[in-house]
Amino acid sequence: MAFPAGFGWGAATAAYQVEGGWDADGRGPCVWDTFTHQGGERVFKNQTGDVACGSYTLWEEDLKCIKQLGLTHYRFSLSWSRLLPDGTTGFINQKGIDYYNKVINDLLAHGVTPLVTIYHFDLPQALEDQGGWLSEAIIDIFDRYAQFCFRTFGDRVKQWITINEPNTYALIAYEMGIFAPGVPHPGTGGYQAAHNMIKAHARSWHSYNSLFRREQKGMVSLSLFFGWSEPADPNSVPDREATMRVISFTLDFFAKPIFIDGDYPELVKSRVASMSKKQGYPSSRLPEFTEEEKKMIKGTADFFAVQYYTTRFVKYQENKKGELGFIQDMEIDYFPDPSWKGVGWIYFVPWGIRKLLKYIKDTYNNPVIYITENGFPQRDPPSLDDTQRWEYFRQTFQELLRAIHVDGVNLQLYCAWSLLDNFEWNDGYNTRFGLFHVDFEDPARPRAPYTSAKEYAKVIKNNGLEGSS
Ligand code: BGC
Repeated sequence: MAFPAGFGWGAATAAYQVEGGWDADGRGPCVWDTFTHQGGERVFKNQTGDVACGSYTLWEEDLKCIKQLGLTHYRFSLSWSRLLPDGTTGFINQKGIDYYNKVINDLLAHGVTPLVTIYHFDLPQALEDQGGWLSEAIIDIFDRYAQFCFRTFGDRVKQWITINEPNTYALIAYEMGIFAPGVPHPGTGGYQAAHNMIKAHARSWHSYNSLFRREQKGMVSLSLFFGWSEPADPNSVPDREATMRVISFTLDFFAKPIFIDGDYPELVKSRVASMSKKQGYPSSRLPEFTEEEKKMIKGTADFFAVQYYTTRFVKYQENKKGELGFIQDMEIDYFPDPSWKGVGWIYFVPWGIRKLLKYIKDTYNNPVIYITENGFPQRDPPSLDDTQRWEYFRQTFQELLRAIHVDGVNLQLYCAWSLLDNFEWNDGYNTRFGLFHVDFEDPARPRAPYTSAKEYAKVIKNNGLEGSS
């Protein structure tokens, strides 16, 4: 079975994870610069993205990798603070524009479609200093930044992701304090940040729609992370309900307002309200959208972008002490099956992706779906012959074929994470997701294909798997 004609094959990266050049040519600091420079072992061996893969100076090497794979699409993100060093359009860094112009123009000259993420976890530090995603002021500032991106690059970029995984970032950065800026706000920060991210996304979609769409004819969405969830005991009603809560609090929390009706799922609203009441809050910890905001948010995505890595089993776990927190609000525990092989938080569960795609099809009116990230890592030191890891990709492609041909899912693009080994946030360079190996000990940062890259190139060339069923 082959993929449909015209299916898009991509690989993805993100600015802070690959570019380096953290203070080159007028780039302003982002929250990850501050966070990694502070040390404190919050990142593996206190590693930083100061140099990373050096893509800021070695873009041509990345382009060679892209050509070697035969990608139809390349997904990368813009470094906000490289373009606008203090996050605002008050000062525009021409050197930053030049860099991305070169990337975009080179891709197009080689027949590769750029899929551009406007913001991937790297908030300018100057904006964090004013409250970051916890402050409502960010909505307007993000919208102006997005408009600047559309105006500057939109004559050539036709596929946009406004915010990468707002669901991950709101939770891991602003609720748990594990990602930069590193300050936990249990039970409140995640909701507040998510609320502002949804509004910022929606505002920038409207800006595109009213100011740029007619001329540029592009598409705008946001990418949502989801680890598929299955009830630990399928016969247990509490476990099944707990699983529904995970889906509602993580995926539907963003997708329902944006794709359906402008508002959060009832399950989330009622649960956070009742937990807040028990904890003595005068009102729900979950902010509310006004009627006007609901109208503004509804229908603000031109395709459904989703990122899948792994699956978990879910069990009901009562929050007996009324503890404050996002997971505690859900009253769940989640864990992998003991038989699953895993590296870090990612367990080898390719079949979860088919279930996720089917869920999106059924819940969100059969949208066009892009998988904007999917992958499986190796630990450092990695093996160039990563045949075992390729098995994850191969089985994933089989699942995608079933999703398309059996379930009728309207999947049009797949991006592997990642083109290169790169700075894997708190794991530094210890967790390697690349299709290409990068030697981080060598100042020239040479790239070399893993077996997975060679195999992926064959899949792209055949637009399918040989001999799959
Ligand atoms: C993020 C990437 C990250 C990848 C692997 C995704 O959640 O968008 O930046 O490297 O997962 O952890």
